[in-house]
Amino acid sequence: MKLLEGKTALITGASKGIGRKIAETFAANGANVAFTYLSSVEKGEALEKELQAHGTKIKGYRSDASIFEEAEKLINDIVSEFGTLDAVVNNAGITKDGLLLRMTEDQWDDVLNVNLKSVFNVTKAASRIMMKNRKGVFINMSSVVGVQGNAGQANYAASKAGIIGFSKSVAKELGSRNIRTNVIAPGFIRTEMTDVLDPKVVEGWEQNIPLKRAGETEDVANACLFLASDLASYINGQVLSVCGGML
Ligand SMILES: NC(=O)c1ccc[n+]([C@@H]2O[C@H](COP(=O)([O-])OP(=O)(O)OC[C@H]3O[C@@H](n4cnc5c(N)ncnc54)[C@H](OP(=O)(O)O)[C@@H]3O)[C@@H](O)[C@H]2O)c1
Repeated sequence: MKLLEGKTALITGASKGIGRKIAETFAANGANVAFTYLSSVEKGEALEKELQAHGTKIKGYRSDASIFEEAEKLINDIVSEFGTLDAVVNNAGITKDGLLLRMTEDQWDDVLNVNLKSVFNVTKAASRIMMKNRKGVFINMSSVVGVQGNAGQANYAASKAGIIGFSKSVAKELGSRNIRTNVIAPGFIRTEMTDVLDPKVVEGWEQNIPLKRAGETEDVANACLFLASDLASYINGQVLSVCGGML
């Protein structure tokens, strides 16, 4: 029996990086998978075809998670297409780094809207069907930066810390309906988001990680698989750091 057999999951921001690996892992473990992308249209369409090889129902949606009405429409479309929704991974995220003195209002607003408001939008819309079903799982992607801060990332750190407070509150509100809400706080994971970093900076970071290596996307995807599955049925309102011991 596969861990997510018969379950329907939504992963936001799955055209590449961590989201893509979560979508692959969920499909390989028997889930029907709905996923979103925004600017990477070709990659999103290619992923839809690729995942169909697993034999479960798969559909990609071009949808901006930061826009309230788009998130509502997305969830309505998924429920009409798949019939239900059991698990949501709020993964979509961006960075627009800069020191506070140079950070523009747009850099602040864009990061808060895509990283934090999106989680409110999608969670609020998806919680309706989960409350009706009296079961469901939310996994929200934070970061170690949301726990410990990082110079040059005040906007990103605020958005990721916000996700933790939001998730702990929702876990308390929806727990009585058998809906679990947890957070993953990845450390330094190799993706296109981190490929832009100076290799010397990366080497320095790796030396400070107790496991002495960057994480891979599957390290995060496997943690999501566990939290989405019934193996985690008594885990609610928690932050799981996938960071090689960095925190
Ligand atoms: N990589 C790390 O080291 C690391 C560490 C801690 C936390 N995280 C978090 O993990 C998540 C994934 O990171 P990643 O490294 O995989 O990033 P990535 O490779 O840059 O991928 C980001 C994904 O988010 C999507 N996206 C961006 N804006 C969106 C929007 N408004 N609506 C819907 N989708 C949107 C992108 O889609 P398009 O390309 O189609 O626009 C893409 O699929 C993020 O929340 C990030 O903050 C990453």
